[in-house]
Amino acid sequence: MKPGRIAALTLVAGACVAGLLGSAVVYFGLYDVSATSPHTIPVHRVMDLALARAVETRAAGIEAPDLDGAERISNGSRLYRMHCAQCHGGPGAAPQPYAMGLNPAPAALVATARTRSAAEIFWITRQGVKMTGMPAWQYRLTDDEIWDVVAFLRVLPTLSAEEYRRGEDGRPPTAQPDKNEASKARVGDARAGRNALQQYLCVTCHAIPGVPGAWNYVGPALGGIAERPYIAGVLNNTPENIVRWLRSPSTIKPGTAMPDLGVSEQDARDIAAFLDTLQEGP
Ligand code: HEC
Ligand code: HEC
Repeated sequence: MKPGRIAALTLVAGACVAGLLGSAVVYFGLYDVSATSPHTIPVHRVMDLALARAVETRAAGIEAPDLDGAERISNGSRLYRMHCAQCHGGPGAAPQPYAMGLNPAPAALVATARTRSAAEIFWITRQGVKMTGMPAWQYRLTDDEIWDVVAFLRVLPTLSAEEYRRGEDGRPPTAQPDKNEASKARVGDARAGRNALQQYLCVTCHAIPGVPGAWNYVGPALGGIAERPYIAGVLNNTPENIVRWLRSPSTIKPGTAMPDLGVSEQDARDIAAFLDTLQEGP
């Protein structure tokens, strides 16, 4: 046999052994998934590197707007306290107890604000980070609001604990303005809708064909929903009515077990477009 072939065969055999070992670790439950057992140092390094490289690549094309305006920073301060400080804390302010139980632990963003560019922080905040507790904010905050938070994060490292505390205005969280009023919403996009399903917990209650993680039966399975005559047994099944249902099931059927999830007009249209592709039951 030629040396090249031997090398190739050895590589293939090695890969098979590694694959088998990996499967055995998974199958026999050897990998400790508990949040109390720390990742090993090599795993941590690989995760950090994967995050850094993924973010650098994806944020490369993003251009930051002007972030110096006082109004931006103060709005960012309010949003940070409302949505981020629970996990990331602030100068002199500890995160909530549940955040301390997360693994990987949420970074103190004072350090992040010094090491990452505005575009990178924008991207991470908007998209979230898989398999960490970092949520995606794209579906809860407008891009402009996310930039406000980024603007605030840039001044965060300069604040003393006292200044950070004083910045609390004690205003109660206000309801998010609908980021996509009906007038601005575009025609539904099924692909965007498929992604949005993950973001409104639809997958935790419904079985949805072709959607990862959606095999739950708290609500009816959605395979073939496009062909059912009624929505939840009470509303004619038309695209506009699906949008109405998704935005506020409780208005349409008081007492229904499906919660109002704060789905925006645009996201509801996108989801409706996706549901419309589910022609036949599973
Ligand atoms: C439920 C907890 C939680 C909330 C709420 C949260 N985060 Fe995170 N965040 C995390 C975790 C966990 C990570 C990943 C571990 C890490 O790298 O810090 C993370 C990572 C990040 C990172 C990357 C840090 C780095 O240097 O690697 C940024 C930036 C960030 N979050 C910003 C925000 C902003 C802005 C908000 C509010 C809009 C927010 N986070 C809300 C838990 C949270
Ligand atoms: C906490 C669980 C829960 C979540 C989260 C949830 N649903 Fe539901 N859903 C239900 C239940 C329960 C019903 C049955 C309601 C009824 O008939 O009163 C339902 C009904 C429906 C129906 C009508 C089904 C039919 O056969 O008539 C659709 C469509 C639907 N949900 C889509 C969604 C979408 C899309 C999302 C995410 C935006 C979502 N649901 C999130 C529990 C949930």
